[in-house]
Amino acid sequence: MAPMCGIAGYIGPRKAVDVVFDQLKRLEYRGYDSAGIAYLNGDSTIHVLKRAGKLTELGKLLEDGSPDSGLAIAHSRWATHGAPTDLNAHPHFDQFGDIALIHNGIIENYLEVKAELMAEGHVFRSETDTEVAAHLIGREHASGLTLEESVRRAVRRLRGAFAFVVLSRREPEKFVAARNASPLIVGLGEGESMVASDVPALLPYTRKVVIIEDDRVAMLTRDGVVVTDLEGRPAPYEPMTIDWDVEAAEKGGYEHFMLKEIHEQPLVVRQCLAGRLDEAGRVRLEQVFSDHVWQEIDRVNIIACGTAYHAGLLGKYLLEMMLRLPTDVFYSSEFRYGDPLLSDRSLAVFISQSGETADSLAALRLCKSRRIRTLGIVNVVGSSIARECDRVLFTQAGPEISVASTKAYVAQSLVLQLLALYIAQVREMPGIRVGELVQDLREFESRMDRCLILEPQVQELAERFVGAPLVFFLGRNADAHVAREAALKLKEVAYVPTQESPAGELKHGPLALIEPGTLAVFGATDPEVREKLASNIREVQARGGFVLAVTTDDDTSLDGVSEAVIKVPAGRSSYLNALLSVVPLQMFAYHVARLRGCEIDQPRNLAKSVTVE
Ligand code: F6R
Repeated sequence: MAPMCGIAGYIGPRKAVDVVFDQLKRLEYRGYDSAGIAYLNGDSTIHVLKRAGKLTELGKLLEDGSPDSGLAIAHSRWATHGAPTDLNAHPHFDQFGDIALIHNGIIENYLEVKAELMAEGHVFRSETDTEVAAHLIGREHASGLTLEESVRRAVRRLRGAFAFVVLSRREPEKFVAARNASPLIVGLGEGESMVASDVPALLPYTRKVVIIEDDRVAMLTRDGVVVTDLEGRPAPYEPMTIDWDVEAAEKGGYEHFMLKEIHEQPLVVRQCLAGRLDEAGRVRLEQVFSDHVWQEIDRVNIIACGTAYHAGLLGKYLLEMMLRLPTDVFYSSEFRYGDPLLSDRSLAVFISQSGETADSLAALRLCKSRRIRTLGIVNVVGSSIARECDRVLFTQAGPEISVASTKAYVAQSLVLQLLALYIAQVREMPGIRVGELVQDLREFESRMDRCLILEPQVQELAERFVGAPLVFFLGRNADAHVAREAALKLKEVAYVPTQESPAGELKHGPLALIEPGTLAVFGATDPEVREKLASNIREVQARGGFVLAVTTDDDTSLDGVSEAVIKVPAGRSSYLNALLSVVPLQMFAYHVARLRGCEIDQPRNLAKSVTVE
């Protein structure tokens, strides 16, 4: 599995291997852990070069000069499952060595397809889902179908979120690319065509591009591209001219990585859930503990820093409210020096985007020395925390480049929801409507998508409140936890002082800080406590403070009560409603920071991965 990897492909008069290697280099800024190239050079054989590690490792295979070839495809892998090894690196072959395939994304039903192919005698070399797609396409191709028709058939059969690029030694004048949810862009040149997962890879060669849509198959030759739907009917497309410079292109046309990553969140939801919700409306988690362990655990300690800690707070809310499973959340730095009480039946959960945070790693080692079971919720495969935990659930959010974490938080919180549902299933807990919550998860991507259209409204609010000297972030229950994360975002990227607390705590002290001009942001997605929140809102207003409420779109109770209201699409689960409300607040932090002229992607004094204490 490999979401968010780099894809490149080229056919034309230039040395194709050099072109695709250069294209991979231009995608390097996104992070990767292995890379590979497949090319044809007229001898009816597919040649493959691949190496774990950085591109310089792959480059060593080309040191004696790159081969002559007019057609090559290449891939840089950012592993989410399966170690970053030579074997797992792409391209992968089919059974007959006729085609080579690179792949970005996740194929959900690969085990089922793999079983079918194995019954027919197919032998697989790797554990990857990618190889299954290669074999499936290869089988169709061997039956006499063209490469593009073979790809169409395979795509119709596969479920998930993916993009492929495939070449065939039997049809050396073309290559084929297909898209279902993962990004894919075709570049059109003079007598040459190319494809990439991201615009920066294409810019040195052409500015004329075609954005391939979902469920489309593109056949590329030197003369151009033919795009069809999955039934083979021609699909209209509109080439466009990209006028971004390289820096803008790396950010997908967004001004900053932070904004790009906020906008990537619907895709992140899809990638994070891919393969984890089954047809029967249940959660499927591979490689976690066996059932008796889940039965035995009587306490959970969640250990993390910063944003990951905030996701942990949401996890506590969920595990305690839903499962009645006692849960504590610790800052890693406090945990490691706090002589924690740990029982044999407890589970320690480490949440980390980078998997390298020094305090979290030290806390993990402490747990291991005490023989406590450990579970990681980690984004970077192959990172120290991922390697050292007994079990890991990967967040599958793709590389996060902005120092301020956005999409990783959403993915961490979703994994916690999956985990809670999984434990509920194992424990066969009556009263927990797993199917209903799974349905809510399935709808989350489209709700997240609808949140993004709030941006113009959020931008206006940022303009209105940019001068606030102090911003409160308040809420109750899950909204209180999201409020802490929203406050951290504003603090770190816009350098605005914030005060965050559960709304009920206001009059026990923080209220003293409210004066005319103070802004108070209220997370109000939970209908159970909305009335209580309304009285907190009045407490703020009575002292001259302004209120911005974030609620769900089925609520009208705060209209006219607060100075401004943002509404996110409502769902059934209060947890997911609260989580969704983080999106406009991430945008709010971003736009305030932009108006204040801050260095958004690299805030002063901060680093992406805190590998020192
Ligand atoms: C804030 C942020 C940090 C990290 C924290 C933990 O936007 O990114 O607070 O969440 O440093 O980092 P990881 O998750 O890599 O362990």
